[in-house]
Amino acid sequence: MLVIQISDLHIRAARALLNGRYDSAGNLERCIAAINGMPRQPDLVIATGDLVQFGATAEYACLREIIGELRAPLMLLPGNHDNRAKLRAAFPWHHYLAQYDENCRFVQDDFTLRIIGLDTVVENEVEGAIGARQLGWLDKQLAAAPDRPTLIAMHHPPFSGMIDFGNKPACADGPALAAILARHRQVKKVISGHLHRAIATAFGGTQGSVSPSTAVSFGIPFFPDTPFYRTSEPVGFQIHLYSDMPGCSDVITHTVTLSDNMQAANLFALEGKTA
Ligand SMILES: [Fe+2]
Ligand SMILES: [Fe+2]
Repeated sequence: MLVIQISDLHIRAARALLNGRYDSAGNLERCIAAINGMPRQPDLVIATGDLVQFGATAEYACLREIIGELRAPLMLLPGNHDNRAKLRAAFPWHHYLAQYDENCRFVQDDFTLRIIGLDTVVENEVEGAIGARQLGWLDKQLAAAPDRPTLIAMHHPPFSGMIDFGNKPACADGPALAAILARHRQVKKVISGHLHRAIATAFGGTQGSVSPSTAVSFGIPFFPDTPFYRTSEPVGFQIHLYSDMPGCSDVITHTVTLSDNMQAANLFALEGKTA
């Protein structure tokens, strides 16, 4: 199974530049061209939140137009920059977004890897939380299918990426999630966004990761307590590969980055067979 994660798209209305500087619309287009040009198409693309910048209807309209070019099936999760009601209104055919009133959590059971999407948005807050009710729901979903290898997707990482937004953890109940994962060993990986760069760590007895943003990258936290900062590093996305073949029972993650001068549609063309 091949899952692509795109994250932190931060689309603005009428393709306006993000922070007056970053071409989030153009960058998303190039990521989509790269994905559409892949020799093997993904089974699923998951967008892990911060889909638009200000949660506005006109931004979701712009997102809908750009992301409509994607050939592969798509699932969406909100981030702290999103507005659930406007997201649901903009993508009414994504029925899973509205199956629960309070948030946009879901279980995708169609593939070898079962995918559970968690909604970590706390309205009007930068930081996120899973919440007791959603944690209880997750526990039940995992208990119902202990033999199904599972990937959990969410916007706010439930672990520290050492990128500082003001000393609060990105997700309030990371330890509670880790405690649940300790009881359900079928979870192969927890993937997230929010921190705008590729990060990998151990979490809850499994793997944890953050995807790069398709819009703009945040810098490496070289020193403790350095506030977050943006850099000119390439944007990108991640490919999560899962196979249940013997000897390959983990999720293997590859990061794809796109610099400005790359021909995105031909990104995966074979240029030579020697290293
Ligand atoms: Fe973001
Ligand atoms: Fe975020």
